[in-house]
Amino acid sequence: MKTARHGSSSRSASLPELAELRARVAETDETLRAIRNGEVDAVMGAGKQSSQVFTLEGAEHAYRVLIESMNEGALTLTADKTILYANQCFARMVKCPLEQVMGSSFRRFISAEDRATLRPLVKRAEKSGSKIQVLLNAGDGSHMPVQISIRPLAKNDFNGATISMVLTDMTEARQSEELLRALTHRVVQAQEAERGRVALELHDTITQMLCAVLVRSQTLADKLPARNRPAKEEAMKLHEIIGRTVEEVERISRNLRPSVLDHLGLVAGLHDTSTEFANRTGVSVKLVCVKLTTRLPADTELALYRILQETLKNVEKHARARHVTVHLTKPGDFVQLTINDDGMGFDPDHHPARRKGKGGFGLLGMRERATYVGGVLKVKSVRRSGTEIEIRIPLPPDVMKAN
Ligand SMILES: Nc1ncnc2c1ncn2[C@@H]1O[C@H](COP(=O)(O)OP(=O)(O)OP(=O)(O)O)[C@@H](O)[C@H]1O
Ligand SMILES: [Mg+2]
Repeated sequence: MKTARHGSSSRSASLPELAELRARVAETDETLRAIRNGEVDAVMGAGKQSSQVFTLEGAEHAYRVLIESMNEGALTLTADKTILYANQCFARMVKCPLEQVMGSSFRRFISAEDRATLRPLVKRAEKSGSKIQVLLNAGDGSHMPVQISIRPLAKNDFNGATISMVLTDMTEARQSEELLRALTHRVVQAQEAERGRVALELHDTITQMLCAVLVRSQTLADKLPARNRPAKEEAMKLHEIIGRTVEEVERISRNLRPSVLDHLGLVAGLHDTSTEFANRTGVSVKLVCVKLTTRLPADTELALYRILQETLKNVEKHARARHVTVHLTKPGDFVQLTINDDGMGFDPDHHPARRKGKGGFGLLGMRERATYVGGVLKVKSVRRSGTEIEIRIPLPPDVMKAN
């Protein structure tokens, strides 16, 4: 067991004793350093009658062992963000010796930008606790993404510490997120390419053949004599069914490859999709679009068009809505698409499909499409009060000037 001797004296110091006092101060400094570093298990105080032993083990010891063996960084801070205590893991995270970490300011390990974000959170955490993701600045100039959980400490606890922090290394989580994002992007791209290929085949082969059958069925109906009424009527019905089939195949082909976007632009594309949806499902759609004087970048137009399609698919599949409103606006340097439905709503953080492992890629794909063009997708939904999907995409300066 390592102990530190801490004596007390009532005599006042005189000049000849200066050297001895200096030695004592140095010894006290060393003792404090050892206590801070957890190298001391007990302190012996020389009392009037006998020595007294103050143990630093006991109840705190178990927690200290636990905290030192954690894979997370642990800190206690004073109100002015001085680090009172840090575990070894935190020292490893910031690549600094523990004795340099303790007693230094926590701000030193956080970038100026993150400090500004952290400040209100720490303030709030003094009452309740909160979480945030930031970049930790290590001593060697490298950075580590971490999640910080901030908790308030009881007043007068831990010798003036007011907050505790647990820092989790998010490097692997970030890498997995990036991998997932890259994968989703590849899936979206592959889907777009495949849709284009199928649309082209439908248009070039099936539609052409159906049109030929359509013309022949009309010829057949014309050629059948009026006296053979049942056969003539049957041929007319056949002609009608084939006509509807051609329209349906064209609709599918159009949805697969938005040629209307290429030829007539975004507003026409949104209009087409909304009208087709309203006619087919009976859900009313109100579309209000800002006037666009020039075309938006092709990627942006395609993203907005596809997100509307996917959102309407979700409305049809899940919402049981009666009305949908679609707004295309241009707030500042952005283009924004907002889609509201008055359906049953859902909890965006816990949707059942993904938990059961059944699909649930629609929203993920929409988010990916928005991210790919530098935009942000927000889902606001309240059970029984409907859902709002909002996509905001920045516009390049030349498009901004022209519009
Ligand atoms: N407008 C909406 N109204 C109510 N619930 C919705 C709405 N949009 C999405 N949801 C809920 O969110 C879940 C996730 O939607 P998402 O589009 O990601 O997956 P999905 O529609 O279930 O499957 P997929 O799109 O892959 O065919 C849905 O299962 C549904 O529970
Ligand atoms: Mg969906």
